[in-house]
Amino acid sequence: MPSHSPDAIIIGAGIIGASICWKLARAGLRVTLLDAGTVGGEASWAGAGMLAPGGEVETRDIWLDLALESQRMYPAYVAELEAESGVSIDYRRCGAVEIAFDDTECQALTSRAALQRPLGIPSQPMDRSDLHRMVPAFDRDAAGAFFYPGDAMVDPRDITRALRTASSAASVEIREGWRAARIDLSADAVRVENSRGDALHAAAAVLAAGAWSSEIAVSGITLPELPRAFPVKGHLTGYQLSPRTLGPILRRGHTYLLQRSSGFTIAGTSTEHVGFDRSVDAQVVRDITARAGELLPALEGERVVAAWAGFRPAADSPGPVSQRAADSRLWLAYGHYRNGILLAPVTADRISREITGTA
Ligand code: GLY
Repeated sequence: MPSHSPDAIIIGAGIIGASICWKLARAGLRVTLLDAGTVGGEASWAGAGMLAPGGEVETRDIWLDLALESQRMYPAYVAELEAESGVSIDYRRCGAVEIAFDDTECQALTSRAALQRPLGIPSQPMDRSDLHRMVPAFDRDAAGAFFYPGDAMVDPRDITRALRTASSAASVEIREGWRAARIDLSADAVRVENSRGDALHAAAAVLAAGAWSSEIAVSGITLPELPRAFPVKGHLTGYQLSPRTLGPILRRGHTYLLQRSSGFTIAGTSTEHVGFDRSVDAQVVRDITARAGELLPALEGERVVAAWAGFRPAADSPGPVSQRAADSRLWLAYGHYRNGILLAPVTADRISREITGTA
């Protein structure tokens, strides 16, 4: 291996790859961070930033343990990142209010809350006055509502900006526009090559290319077949409202609303299996706008000032793909699907400890 080679190469500079990179650099490793586009430019840029096991998890499975552990780690992760980068991160443990419009929805919410409580996801039923006090902008009747005090939100664009700054300060080499095409494994090293034939070598590498992870060929050592990564597109829309119009996250089924401290308010979402189609579909935007207006009638006269789409990093796997590839020098960190922003701290902690041998 050339003497100037890094100790570790991270393939993919979304929130997962960049968080692993930062942790490794803080542990004293020389790290190169690669991305086909820009740091945090894909799913991490598009994500709303709900840190919400209450909205996503309802069974005892691998997602649950990781989500709860990462939720506990978030305040320290944000504080350390802010301190090291000087970038202020919009993070609030604001809780979430889940709304039912009719008795059937209310029964479903009640059963779900009862399933979640023993799993470690607390919630409390809300009456009309609780709802009015916590979400004054919700000026319509609900058949029922539950408050999830543990749910939080963060602006993922602040996080990736902070990760870039903190990583640069820790001497990470960041290469943007470097599209990895092939990973060649030997017993004690990794070679990563891009589509132009440029190659980098290191003692370890992490494949964290989100929905694109399966587009990179892996050869050299025979490994069990790696779980297939694929994109699940989601649209979001944005409104510019007065700050503090909305305190907690507001949810009804797959419709959600959350507000940044600036007042920018995000409505989601859609779940589309359309490959890497980047177009913003006016019909899907209209559907989200209609559902958001139903959830919060105060939005009905408001202009949609932004509409965008991103690719959730899904995988054919029962949980996120977060492990060493057999006994090779390659670690896998993809397939975080709807929970990538939430699972960044726990994934970074576990993978970096394995690589540095402190697990
Ligand atoms: N976690 C929210 C979403 O995937 O839309």
